[in-house]
Amino acid sequence: MPLLAIETTCDETAAAIISQERRILSSVVASQDELHARWRGVVPEIASRAHVERIIPIIDQATNEAGIQQSQIEAVAVAIRPGLIGSLLIGLSAAKAIASSLQVPLIGYDHLAAHLYACRLAFGEELQYPAIGLVASGGHTSLFQQHSPIALQALGGTIDDAVGEAFDKVASLLGLGYPGGPQIEQLAQNGNPRSHRLPRPLANDSSRLDFSFSGLKTAVRYRVWPPQAQHARSLTDQERADLAASFQQAAVESVVAKVGLAIQKTGCRVVTVGGGVTANKVLRSALEDLGKRHRATILIPPMNLCTDNAAMGAIAWEHIERNDIANLELDARPNIYRKKQPVR
Ligand code: KG4
Ligand code: ZN
Repeated sequence: MPLLAIETTCDETAAAIISQERRILSSVVASQDELHARWRGVVPEIASRAHVERIIPIIDQATNEAGIQQSQIEAVAVAIRPGLIGSLLIGLSAAKAIASSLQVPLIGYDHLAAHLYACRLAFGEELQYPAIGLVASGGHTSLFQQHSPIALQALGGTIDDAVGEAFDKVASLLGLGYPGGPQIEQLAQNGNPRSHRLPRPLANDSSRLDFSFSGLKTAVRYRVWPPQAQHARSLTDQERADLAASFQQAAVESVVAKVGLAIQKTGCRVVTVGGGVTANKVLRSALEDLGKRHRATILIPPMNLCTDNAAMGAIAWEHIERNDIANLELDARPNIYRKKQPVR
């Protein structure tokens, strides 16, 4: 008997049905990209309203595609942290309602741990713990030491923007649409990544496992609209492509540098990655090269499991197997605080 997983942490309404063997029987994702595109970023109020409209049809679609009745659901799992509070509450309310009406266990899971669990879905038992986890998404850029799929210890994170947010903002500066990551990646294919010398803040600071992307974003802004100028420059297609490629290169190198440092500092040679930005092919190949240099196993999930989805809610089986079941008092935690541990 399978579980239903629900995911509404940001701007994707998603539901999936997953068996205890971690087989994905269905996975439905309703993207809200078209609703947020004109604002070039996620508008929390619009996201919440869209979740309200979509959550029930998406759950129905997930059960239909899995070929089961709702009454066959054995447990209901929901991502409760971190995320936009309005969005989280819609998924949580739906999960509570279904779990209590079916009288089945309710499980709350961590969205970041779930992103990394996509590696378990993709690679199965090949993934052994402890591992280092990298989450690179629109809301997070974080490194963890994973003692088990659900025990994450923070090693570092961004001190300002998330890397995906930088992709989205730079895309906007270059006149591209939202979400910016895939469009920057496409434009960058025609550009020279060495054409602009852009900063890589904190990348060479070997004392910490933190990231910073706001200085890189501002540097791109100044190439488009120099500080003393009255107007933004009008860039040729080639100039835009060169800037996109140089930005992407700087962002990728900044991320990869800290994964390498985490391997050195922890001595751990297994790395799991997840989050929308890890769908980026330049990042994926840079991570593979890093793995070869450090003789580390870098597990990168297939693209459809990198961006937000509910299949990664399979992590709820780990909670069930540890008897970590919630009740109807389960609450959403938009900004979970993780105490960072020093790593020597
Ligand atoms: O994991 P995700 O779907 O949602 C969050 O939890 O944030 O990540 C979305 C982010 C967006 O910032 C998007 O621009 C970025 O992932 N992204 C990419 C690519 N595909 C998605 N960034 C760079 N290259 C990509 N191919
Ligand atoms: Zn995410």
